[in-house]
Amino acid sequence: MLKKNDSNYYSMNDISLAELADKYQTPLYVYSADQIRKNIQHLQSVLAKYFDSYRIQYAVKANTNPHVLKIVKETGIGADCSSPLELRLAKQAGFPMDRSTYTGNYESPEDFKRAVESGVNLNLDDYHRITDLKEMGILPEFVSFRINPGIGRGGFEQIVTGGADAKFGFPYEETRKAYQTAIEAGVKRFGIHMMTGSNILEPFYFAEITQKIFTIIENSINDLGIELEFINIGGGLGVPYTKEEEALDLDQSFKMVSEVFKKNLPNLNIGNPEIALEPGRYLVANSGVLLSKVTHVKRSYRNYVGIDAGMSTLLRPAMYKAFHDVKMDGQEDFLSNEPSDHYRICGQICENSDIHPLDRSFNQPKAGDLMLIENAGAYGFTMSSNYNNRVRPAEILLDGSSEKVIRVRETEEDVLKNVPDFELK
Ligand SMILES: Cc1ncc(COP(=O)(O)O)c(C=O)c1O
Repeated sequence: MLKKNDSNYYSMNDISLAELADKYQTPLYVYSADQIRKNIQHLQSVLAKYFDSYRIQYAVKANTNPHVLKIVKETGIGADCSSPLELRLAKQAGFPMDRSTYTGNYESPEDFKRAVESGVNLNLDDYHRITDLKEMGILPEFVSFRINPGIGRGGFEQIVTGGADAKFGFPYEETRKAYQTAIEAGVKRFGIHMMTGSNILEPFYFAEITQKIFTIIENSINDLGIELEFINIGGGLGVPYTKEEEALDLDQSFKMVSEVFKKNLPNLNIGNPEIALEPGRYLVANSGVLLSKVTHVKRSYRNYVGIDAGMSTLLRPAMYKAFHDVKMDGQEDFLSNEPSDHYRICGQICENSDIHPLDRSFNQPKAGDLMLIENAGAYGFTMSSNYNNRVRPAEILLDGSSEKVIRVRETEEDVLKNVPDFELK
């Protein structure tokens, strides 16, 4: 998606990133609408090849900017929401609510009320909540359950969301009890769901968890006389963040998943459920780059390149030790074995975790150099904060040759605007 000219300056959609950085200042998130469409169309074409019908629901949490949501919505897919505001934004963007899901966890009564009122499909993290919904008088006709199938996988320990250590879903041994409880309470229509981890690059895994959920269905609910409208195998489709990682082979992944469907469905008594997926990262990660300027280079026990996009702008490196590839604009990629050429990239936040993993080699970096942090379109801005009273960055959306500011940079006044009886001087 990034293009480099003969002088090693980068562009996106043929728009110079150095010019964008000059015009809008840094740190700056820049997204390509064209790349988002391309990612979605690729996933749609693979699913259409192997399934008669399918549901893709964009995990809004990956990038919630309303202008990004509009691009995603136009591709015809649904939304996967995890908070009332995500739901409100998805509805306003025009996502079809009957093809979208609300998957919360530890929901408040207000969360439930707003989810049910929106008409979205409600996916429950704990089947005991059926009783709460019934008591509130808002039990919907449709419910699906988030089953913890007892296994999980993910790019880091913190993004494994299935298995014994996960706070999500309920143990698969309780699946029968869950559906029985729902039937007795008056629920009429059903789905089933799991989400066991994020950033998975191994094609076999998706078939493995699909088989797992079919086994759970067969052993727990096949004789209950209910039809499942979908089997949702979650998100988790990974993207390569390092040069060594291979891109997920989608064709291979869904060929294997479809074989699991074909093998299991004819033997079951659950109707003809559609496959459902709720990817976030896969649809938007590689559409975004974070532009940041070097603020200072320090030679200490090791060399540090300080940049103006620390953990308050991009949290993933500090939170998960997540690796993001970087480029220095206008410089050739530099590989050196000399320790003096190796640097840790760090932000300006007063936390020792505000640091990118692994030394990178740079050729004489200096203050003012423009750094491009790749794969920043997912879980980038959405996880940003005002920690250390840093303002949140601007966001730009490129669409073909057009460029649009889709969020202006916060001001210091914005940060303080909700403090009563106070005016920033
Ligand atoms: C319930 C649920 N679905 C989908 C996703 C999206 O995951 P990914 O971005 O890995 O596709 C998440 C991510 O946390 C999630 O919690």
